[in-house]
Amino acid sequence: MALLLLLTAHFIWLCSGHQGAPDLPGRIAVVGAGVGGSAVTYFLQQQFGPQVQIDVFEADRVGGRLATLTVNNQQYESGSLSIHSLNLHMQDFVKLLGLRHRREVAGKSAIYSGDQLVLEETDWYLLNLFRLWWHYGISFLRLQMWVEEVMEKFMRVYKYQAHEYAFSSIEELLRSLGGEHFVNMTQKSVAESLLGIGVSQRFIDDVIGAVMRASYGQTVAIPALVGAMSLAGAQGNMWAVEGGNKLVCSGLLKLTKANVIHARVTAVSLHKSGKRPLYEVRYDQDGTLGSEYYDLVIVATPLHKGGYPISFLNFQPPIQEPTAPYHRVVSSIVHGYLNSSYFGFTDPKLFPFSSILSTDSPDSFFHGLENLCPVNISVGFRRKPPHEAAVWRVLSSRPLDRRELKTIFKSYYSVQVIEWQAFPSYGATGSSRSLPPIVLHDGLYYLSGVELAAASVEMSAVAAKNVALLAFNRWFELTEKIDQPDLLHKLKTEL
Ligand SMILES: Cc1cc2nc3c(=O)[nH]c(=O)nc-3n(C[C@H](O)[C@H](O)[C@H](O)COP(=O)(O)OP(=O)(O)OC[C@H]3O[C@@H](n4cnc5c(N)ncnc54)[C@H](O)[C@@H]3O)c2cc1C
Ligand SMILES: *[C@@H]1O[C@H](CO)[C@@H](O)[C@H](O)[C@H]1NC(C)=O
Ligand SMILES: *[C@@H]1O[C@H](CO)[C@@H](O)[C@H](O)[C@H]1NC(C)=O
Ligand SMILES: *[C@@H]1O[C@H](CO)[C@@H](O)[C@H](O)[C@H]1NC(C)=O
Repeated sequence: MALLLLLTAHFIWLCSGHQGAPDLPGRIAVVGAGVGGSAVTYFLQQQFGPQVQIDVFEADRVGGRLATLTVNNQQYESGSLSIHSLNLHMQDFVKLLGLRHRREVAGKSAIYSGDQLVLEETDWYLLNLFRLWWHYGISFLRLQMWVEEVMEKFMRVYKYQAHEYAFSSIEELLRSLGGEHFVNMTQKSVAESLLGIGVSQRFIDDVIGAVMRASYGQTVAIPALVGAMSLAGAQGNMWAVEGGNKLVCSGLLKLTKANVIHARVTAVSLHKSGKRPLYEVRYDQDGTLGSEYYDLVIVATPLHKGGYPISFLNFQPPIQEPTAPYHRVVSSIVHGYLNSSYFGFTDPKLFPFSSILSTDSPDSFFHGLENLCPVNISVGFRRKPPHEAAVWRVLSSRPLDRRELKTIFKSYYSVQVIEWQAFPSYGATGSSRSLPPIVLHDGLYYLSGVELAAASVEMSAVAAKNVALLAFNRWFELTEKIDQPDLLHKLKTEL
């Protein structure tokens, strides 16, 4: 590994045609140690080589929205649960770090409408079942084809990135993957897109609505691109990291030997402009204020009103802080006995489901309910059935009160509540929602704006690779590697 990095640096040195030391950035700052920040740290080191010092600022916990909590001496995922198997960067990280996929434990899903189960799964994954075909006919097939097409186009990004092509805006990235149509998919709602290809309104209300609620806590008004990605997740092939998804973040930071500074960044100030500007990063470390200077700064946390504010000072023209509102998702981790009668099963022994999605009806006060497996699964592990005390995760838009908890659970030992600023509020469609910029200034990049196109663990990793390539290509003025049109054909003929 080290040898490879040295070779990369050597190659740069040769290409830049310099005598003596190559003109590398001296120091790089990364704000945020979630999967976006950890991944960009790793990719930046791959590009620039190990001699560049990378400082990573983290206000809370390494991992960010990849997090665990402890119930009865076992850890459970409290943020992002699972990752799609087509997510190649996450797959690579797991291999690179010597981590493993957590063993799969079978379980079934159902959709609950507030007074009855509208759809029960007969097989492992919700959208793979014969029952769906039976109920909804051609709608189901059309949906499958639509999701497949979107994913196939999305997968092109890995090829572009393997050839070190970068994009200076989210729109350019999307355009190169799926043309203008892909860019439009961030504006049009998933409902509108599906109606357009002949999926029935009933299917959208019953099934698509429930999947959008369980994955993003929002309605079928969310944009088609993010909708398609969460539907790909509902089709199965999901996995998680043995020991906890957050191990990817701590592992990448350790591997790169990044300097992790536990402090909250308050401002990024332009200290010196010119061809090679210098940025001052100001931070608050347990009440003590400090500042450091950097050639490159990557903001790897969403900028929104519910987060830690970061001011951008001395920029001309001023940098407009992207302040898309974020959507609160409350995660309640309950250790107790499910009230299966609430779902129509008076005998809990007969309740066959490990996850319940709820449709958007006035009666449903939760988005989804899931029987959690611990992050470490021993060989003899089995899922706890509802007549035994189990650990459940309930997602809702506001904290559940005692009465609501007593409705879904017969009794419980403990409830731990985490409030997440989870995803962008994708809001009503129709109004033109421009996507935030990636390049805020010559050497100042914003990674997390990609969430406005689609928020997921892998999107953060894809954006991280893009920002690392973009920063590198811009630093060495490799303009032919930025925003190249018609990459798909170019790469076909090159190979
Ligand atoms: C309940 C829930 C369920 C989810 N389920 C899934 C799922 O099943 N599959 C999936 O793919 N995705 C899921 N997601 C989304 C996924 O977790 C996120 O898209 C992803 O983790 C975002 O990573 P990130 O590094 O970009 O941001 P974050 O993880 O938010 O990391 C940003 C980091 O920056 C730090 N920070 C913020 N401001 C500052 C500052 N001023 N100074 C220093 N540090 C700062 C924060 O403390 C944080 O650690 C889920 C999210 C939630 C909340
Ligand atoms: C994208 O949207 C614009 C404006 O809404 C429309 O004119 C254009 O035809 C759309 N393009 C595609 C390929 O869908
Ligand atoms: C859980 O799994 C991780 C990763 O494989 C491992 O490092 C850790 O020791 C395990 N913990 C327990 C309690 O088995
Ligand atoms: C369980 O659900 C049933 C049916 O909705 C309800 O009557 C009862 O009050 C709930 N709570 C308990 C603790 O059984």
